[in-house]
Amino acid sequence: MSDEPDTSPVSGPAPGAVPAPGSAEGPALLHPSDAAIGRAAELIRAGGLVAFPTETVYGLGADATSDRAVAAIFAAKGRPSFNPLIVHVPDTAAAEEIVLFGDRSRDVAEAFWPGPLTLVLPRRPGCPVSLLVSAGLDTIAVRIPAHPVARALLRAAGRPVAAPSANRSGSVSPTTPLHVAEGLGSRVGLILAAGRCEVGVESTVLDLSGARPAILRPGGITRERLEALLGPVSVPSEDPAAPRSPGQLASHYAPGRPVRLDAAQVGPDEALLAFGPDAFLRGGRERLNLSPSGDLEEAAANLFAMLRSLDRPENAAIAVMPIPERGLGVAINDRLRRAAAPRTEPEPRPPT
Ligand code: TXA
Ligand code: MG
Repeated sequence: MSDEPDTSPVSGPAPGAVPAPGSAEGPALLHPSDAAIGRAAELIRAGGLVAFPTETVYGLGADATSDRAVAAIFAAKGRPSFNPLIVHVPDTAAAEEIVLFGDRSRDVAEAFWPGPLTLVLPRRPGCPVSLLVSAGLDTIAVRIPAHPVARALLRAAGRPVAAPSANRSGSVSPTTPLHVAEGLGSRVGLILAAGRCEVGVESTVLDLSGARPAILRPGGITRERLEALLGPVSVPSEDPAAPRSPGQLASHYAPGRPVRLDAAQVGPDEALLAFGPDAFLRGGRERLNLSPSGDLEEAAANLFAMLRSLDRPENAAIAVMPIPERGLGVAINDRLRRAAAPRTEPEPRPPT
C-alpha cells in the first residue's frame, strides 16, 4: 500500500509489455487503448473477469448472462453469500432488454443516465441475465455508467456486464487501478487502468419496482436531486421498515484499523481524517484532509483512497472529523458508518 493517496492519473504500462491475463505475477494492467478494450471485451465474452473504471469506483466485470462467469465474481471477491449485483449496460436500449420500464423510470433514466445511479426494476420475462446476478429476486439492478472506458467496454462486449466493486469482500472499494491490483491480485485477469475515479463513492441504488421510490443505498446522485424529479423518496435511515439493499452489511467498507467517527480531537497514536478547515485540531501520527475547503464532492472522491492510505498498523485508529449529512455527505457518512461498525455482525439473508 502506498503512503500517499493516489491522486495522479495512472496510465498502465504499454500494451505488450505486460504479463498474460491472470498470470502468476498478477493481473495485467493495461492502458485503455482500443486494443486493450477489445481484449477485455473478448475476455468477458469468454467468461473471464475484467476490472474496469467507472465514474464511481472500479468494477469487477463478467458476462451477466453466464452463471459460471457470475459465480467467478463471487469467488474472486470472497463474498460470503450471493448478494445481488448491478448489471451494467451501454445504453437504454440494452437496459430495456433486461428490465421493464414505466413512465417514471424512463424519466429518471433520461435525467440521470449515463451516471452514478442504479435502478432496481422488474426483470423482463425471458431476460437472459443469470438468476445468480439478482440472487433469485424478481428485480434486477441496472445502470449505465458515464465513464467513457466503461461505455466502450460495454459496447465492445455486446452483452450485459455484472460488476460489483473490484475489491475483496468487506474491504474498501477501489478508486484506482493499483487498489484493484493490491486487493485482487491474480484473481482478476486484466485491469483497464484509467486513473482515479471522479465520483469516488458507489452509485445510488434507487428501487423503482414498488409504489414509492426508495433509496436502498445512498451514493453519487443525491436524494435532493432525485426528489426534485420524483417527489418524496424514502430512505432506510428515516424509516426502519423501508426496504434496504439486500446484503448491505452494517460492517462493509471496512479498513483493517478501527475507525472512530465524529472526532473532535485526535490521540497521539491515531491518524486523522479531517474535513474542512481543521486548524483547531492538532496532533495525531498523521493527517489527511478529505477537502480543506469543505467541498463534499471533493471529499467523496478522496474518501476511499485516503482511508486506505491511513489504514496502517502504526496507526492505532483512524479518527474522522464530522461530515455534514447533506448532499454527497449522506453517501460519505453511510460508508464511514460501515467502516466504523463492529466487524462481527452475521450476514443478513437476502429476501426471497
Ligand atoms: O457504483 C457502483 O454501483 C459500483 C460500480 C462498479 O458500478 N458497483 C457496485 O456494485 O457498487 P455492488 O455489487 O458492490 O453493489 C450492488 C448494490 C448492493 O447494495 C446490492 O444489494 C444492490 O446493489 N442490489 C443489486 N441488485 C439488487 C436488487 N435486485 N434489488 C435490490 N438491491 C439490489
Ligand atoms: Mg462493493
